[in-house]
Amino acid sequence: MDQILAHLKARYAGALDERALLQDRPALPDTLSTLLSHRSVRAFASKPLGSGTLELLVAAAQSAASSSNLQTWSVVAVEDAARKQRLSVLAGEQAHIREAPLFLAWLVDLSRLRRIAERDQRPSEGLDYLDSFLVGAVDAALAAQNAVVAAESLGLGTVYIGALRNRPEEVARELGLPPSVFALFGLCVGHPDEARPAAIKPRLPQRSVLFRERYLADEGSPEPTHDDVASYDQTMAAFYASQNMSATRWSQVSRERMETSASLRGRDRLREALRTLGFPLR
Ligand SMILES: Cc1cc2nc3c(=O)[nH]c(=O)nc-3n(C[C@H](O)[C@H](O)[C@H](O)COP(=O)(O)O)c2cc1C
Repeated sequence: MDQILAHLKARYAGALDERALLQDRPALPDTLSTLLSHRSVRAFASKPLGSGTLELLVAAAQSAASSSNLQTWSVVAVEDAARKQRLSVLAGEQAHIREAPLFLAWLVDLSRLRRIAERDQRPSEGLDYLDSFLVGAVDAALAAQNAVVAAESLGLGTVYIGALRNRPEEVARELGLPPSVFALFGLCVGHPDEARPAAIKPRLPQRSVLFRERYLADEGSPEPTHDDVASYDQTMAAFYASQNMSATRWSQVSRERMETSASLRGRDRLREALRTLGFPLR
């Protein structure tokens, strides 16, 4: 329980009355401790993963819910050093892709259902619509997050790699993806380097993200959130200082991330890339 309190304190940096939250719960499952203590790991030890780890992570991933049980996702496990090196170049030169013993590329995979339709000589028009792409993206994300929780429960560290979408056609070639398959994001997996530990990163206060019954009260416009943002900027500045990282304002960095199409680092042409890769997105 003390551990869970510590995790909640770190997650909200004091902006949550965690004792009130837990007062009627004398015991909490380990799963909650694993979830609350998540932190992305970008520094890995050179130790290999144990045998069977990949299969265990994929079993956890396949245990996630799946829209209509269509299972419109797949994953490519990359362990080859040269391939990880090439993928790191395609994904913004991120060193942790090379350093992690395992890199998982999580895929929206509509090709299985296309092939079933071809086998049965039936149309597969529904796969051409934006919603089918979203079904695959949601399924892939849920599966990946299950794998993340499984990895963390085994003492492993992970970090997602959204930059895998920066150059989608080249990634598709590198991973040998057929049409109607798209690499949604990557995931580095490995033993955390204990000499370079990662810390729990604070989040926005719950009142910024949790709405009860309705987002907008009556006909009004959203409540201004400037105070919460300003205090979160301060929380994050203190967090970065504690990690010896350069202090940047969260609100400024987040705003700049979306300021222009160039800020998307190649992902501004995603619709065009998806059409090339066999997703008409009607
Ligand atoms: C879909 C997705 C893509 C991400 N892409 C990257 C990435 O390309 N490189 C990276 O270092 N971290 C990446 N991250 C990690 C986030 O930066 C991280 O989750 C966020 O800063 C919160 O920190 P925490 O995970 O330690 O709590 C990604 C996270 C998600 C969910």
